[in-house]
Amino acid sequence: MNSRETLKINGKGHLEIGGCDAVDLAKDFGTPLYVFDEKYIRDMMRVYRDTIAEEYNGNGLVLYASKAFSCMAIYRIASQENIGVDVVSGGELYTAVKAGFPTEKIYMHGNNKLLRELEFAVDAKVGTIVVDSYDEADILDMLAGKAGIRQNVLIRINPGVEAHTHAFVQTARTDSKFGFSISDGTAERMTGYILKKEHLNLKGYHCHIGSQIFEKQSFVLAAQKAMDFMAKIKADLGFEADTLNIGGGFGIWYTDEDAKISVDGYAEYLKALIGAVKQRAAELSLKLPYLIIEPGRSIVGEAGVTLYTVGAIKDIPGVKKYVAIDGGMFDNPRYALYQSKYTVLLANRANEKCTEKVTIAGKCCESGDLIAVDVPLPKAERGDIAAVLSTGAYNYSMASNYNRNFIPAAVLVNNGKAEYIVKPQTYDDLIRNDVLPDYLK
Ligand SMILES: Cc1ncc(COP(=O)(O)O)c(C=O)c1O
Repeated sequence: MNSRETLKINGKGHLEIGGCDAVDLAKDFGTPLYVFDEKYIRDMMRVYRDTIAEEYNGNGLVLYASKAFSCMAIYRIASQENIGVDVVSGGELYTAVKAGFPTEKIYMHGNNKLLRELEFAVDAKVGTIVVDSYDEADILDMLAGKAGIRQNVLIRINPGVEAHTHAFVQTARTDSKFGFSISDGTAERMTGYILKKEHLNLKGYHCHIGSQIFEKQSFVLAAQKAMDFMAKIKADLGFEADTLNIGGGFGIWYTDEDAKISVDGYAEYLKALIGAVKQRAAELSLKLPYLIIEPGRSIVGEAGVTLYTVGAIKDIPGVKKYVAIDGGMFDNPRYALYQSKYTVLLANRANEKCTEKVTIAGKCCESGDLIAVDVPLPKAERGDIAAVLSTGAYNYSMASNYNRNFIPAAVLVNNGKAEYIVKPQTYDDLIRNDVLPDYLK
């Protein structure tokens, strides 16, 4: 299983999460059900926060990248843990504001922020906006002027490092819908452009090199390249940036093909990054930047487990055995999107040996609606509770009502207690915004 002590098999042979028996959770709250382990989430937030405090004199900030999982409770937890958040839409911002999150600690991203989103951000006094286009800079300057403020901004840059999972490549990539490339000079031109804006206060730079990354060296390289660029800007334009936001991307365990990193192990990523930043700053005679990271997946991913009830089972001899569950791509579209891999257990028989390989299929009218392909499982039967591990990130946040299925409820578990953080939907929720125009009545 994964790397934490709050996920285990209890004396009844059932999966237990945060002290709650998964079979009881399925009975009490119904399935499908997203289960989030509060202790793991808080531990992850703390390990990043404390590493910046201890290794970098507190001269930085952890932002929880809330695209990974956004609901009011998670912003409340982030605020209690004294970290910041990043948001990428008016909807995420609204959720954070409604949860009472301190807006000065919100960073707003997006390659095409809408006018209404920028208006909302300025209105809500969002601390920093990460500018990603020329016209966004113009609009923001105008809005900040109207509000009588100087809006803090970062520029999103492409450092020419791209990383995914176990590999990274150095590129001179200019083909991205995000950011401004260092290599073709557009990042420098954008810097000059923003510096001339009366109502924008350029704090520095942001980059994000990818997701599900295990190689520390990719983050180190991105930081080095960003700092080389900062030194060039200082020499060319006389502007010394205050802030470097290196983005998110730390990898997590989904299956035994992935590394298992303990909570403390994530501190090592940050220490490697901090070491590189200190060294490069000394080499380039730059002041130490205010250092920001924005992990999403690594904070909530392994904290999440989705529980399903097994329904129809279809054995096609010599081909495949399909075990269908009461969820599917509407609660977890990641297999359909990127053939993601997961570990699956039978929560009610978690001690039993796996005797066959099966494909976990969803209930949507799509052949590609699968959750995990050819995964080992004990012989499953209708009524078993299937648990898919590491579903805390980019599952609920990517869920839909496809086929008019309900987006499942979510519960937060800790010390044997479970509480709703997202209520179950009802049929009425599904038709809430439907309208029958008069001529159809
Ligand atoms: C700008 C930005 N920051 C942070 C993240 C979070 O990345 P992860 O969830 O891999 O940590 C993403 C993810 O796509 C991102 O685009």
